[in-house]
Amino acid sequence: MLDILRQRRSIRAYTEAPLDDATLDALKEAVLRAPSSRGLNPWAFVFVTDRTLLKKLATCKPHGAEFLAQAPLGVVVWADPERADTWIEDCSIAAIILQLAAESLGLGSCWVQVRLRQHAAGGSAEDFVREAAGLPENARVLCIIAVGHPERRKRGHARESLPWDKIRHIPAP
Ligand SMILES: Cc1cc2nc3c(=O)[nH]c(=O)nc-3n(C[C@H](O)[C@H](O)[C@H](O)COP(=O)(O)O)c2cc1C
Repeated sequence: MLDILRQRRSIRAYTEAPLDDATLDALKEAVLRAPSSRGLNPWAFVFVTDRTLLKKLATCKPHGAEFLAQAPLGVVVWADPERADTWIEDCSIAAIILQLAAESLGLGSCWVQVRLRQHAAGGSAEDFVREAAGLPENARVLCIIAVGHPERRKRGHARESLPWDKIRHIPAP
């Protein structure tokens, strides 16, 4: 796991190679293994490999989603907020587990923030994605994770470049 974290970077450019069924199945299993508060599993996931829909989702906001149009997979991470007041945390954990599972399979991925973002034509990115993905009216959309074979690999962040000052260690007296 530490090796995966050491090499992980956000990847926004993918080759044209599609993801095979075994890979898709492994990613589906990974998200369903995400922990959630009280095990309520308020989340749900839409695995999109349909190019037309991916292109539409790429326009959910003016910037930072365009690479979805070229990705072989986009996973819409959403929840029924009535099921758990921790839906944001639960969805975030599932999303990062999906990204780390993708990394472990040699794939690249990037988070596309949807919650709190605006669509170019006015209205929210959430409303746009809810409608495009055919989600229920009460659905809250956290993000879309783009996944694919990296067009080129990025170097992981160097250990020395990490913000070590963010960590305070209180040792035993
Ligand atoms: C909550 C969250 C929202 C993000 N939203 C976007 C986004 O909408 N578009 C995008 O291209 N990258 C997005 N990212 C990726 C970050 O920009 C990226 O993780 C950060 O720049 C650090 O780069 P690295 O992942 O390569 O270490 C998001 C990441 C997180 C954790």
